[in-house]
Amino acid sequence: MAYPTPKVSPFSLLISVLLCFWLSSSMGIAATYNVVSFGAKPDGKTDSTKAFLNAWSKACASPNPASIYVPQGRFLLKTATFNGQCANKAISITIDGTLVAPSTYEVIGNSDVWLHFERVDGVSIRGGVLDAQGNALWECKNSKHSNCPTGATTLGFTNSNNIAISGLTSMNSQMFHIVINGCQNVKAQRVKVMAAGNSPNTDGIHVQLSSHVTILNSKIRTGDDCISIGPGTSHLWIENIACGPGHGISIGSLGRSLNEPGVQNVTVKTVTFTGTQNGVRIKTWGRPSYGFVRNVVFQDAIMVNVENPILIDQNYCPDNKGCPGQASGVKISDVRYENIHGTSATQVAMKFDCSSKYPCSGIRLEDVKLTYNNQPAISSCNHADGATLGSVQPESCF
Ligand SMILES: *[C@@H]1O[C@H](CO)[C@@H](O)[C@H](O)[C@H]1NC(C)=O
Repeated sequence: MAYPTPKVSPFSLLISVLLCFWLSSSMGIAATYNVVSFGAKPDGKTDSTKAFLNAWSKACASPNPASIYVPQGRFLLKTATFNGQCANKAISITIDGTLVAPSTYEVIGNSDVWLHFERVDGVSIRGGVLDAQGNALWECKNSKHSNCPTGATTLGFTNSNNIAISGLTSMNSQMFHIVINGCQNVKAQRVKVMAAGNSPNTDGIHVQLSSHVTILNSKIRTGDDCISIGPGTSHLWIENIACGPGHGISIGSLGRSLNEPGVQNVTVKTVTFTGTQNGVRIKTWGRPSYGFVRNVVFQDAIMVNVENPILIDQNYCPDNKGCPGQASGVKISDVRYENIHGTSATQVAMKFDCSSKYPCSGIRLEDVKLTYNNQPAISSCNHADGATLGSVQPESCF
């Protein structure tokens, strides 16, 4: 038997609608903007750039927290800049679908960044696949054609604060996959990067001029550094990463210019490097600079057939231009390597090639075991000073 439905008077209906409206605006209940209702098409071929930008404008202008929703399907996007400053400090973007760049690489290939967030505060991105379709551009570059465009970074955050990225996949970027530039308080987790091992300059995540960036629980397979750390990075925490193929995790290149901010307080913890060119690396140009690297910890790493598991290279001088015969000005101090085990693909598993003008100081090795072809590997030092603790193999050369 059904209960009699209570009568709802028009008046009480009006009151409750008003109450809801008041609650949602005063309590900050998020409005949701679905890109499809702005004209985006999940068909992979209709240009949805305007629809995404219009959804962004609405969310950004909202005085309350706002959400943008991208449903399943493939959305074709050209270069898009999502500008702040916004009227609120909480825009969450949930992506169930794939954002795909035009298949002709020239369309976005001369822009710095394909999807660019600038001067935003409190933006989070959850889920989603970003497919920049970079393959044709890599082929152009690898075939040494001289007229290939530089290519765009897939996702960039510039001069932005309080950013969260989780469960995002970036594949086949033209240049870098994700760049954090001039930002504070960024947390990236469960990020997946996928690009071919021979794709040029496809760094996974690049951080520079930024502080308090955390990168957790991510898998990066690419053609250049899995994570690269540029000038002016401080308080960076990297933990639980699977890297490879790729060039490893690199602080640098640094010291290309004279007046360059330094890098300090970087922790890289629990990383597995598989078949990479480098493991943990610090790399500086062999030329004058006021830059520095200090207070770095590389902890709990597993190396699987890595060409240069532990490397400091202060004589970087690509094409031998602008540096031969000069010493790096970048001062490297207080770098700790703790609990690093595994196999090297070359005999020199540990190399500290420091600046003749500013030798590396305060390097500490603790519980290191790296082998080469089931034989002891070797270490090599130039202008490096440090100490060892526990068992260290190969024997240090300090
Ligand atoms: C180093 O950075 C971490 C975040 O990665 C931060 O929690 C810590 O306070 C920083 N330490 C110093 C001495 O600044």
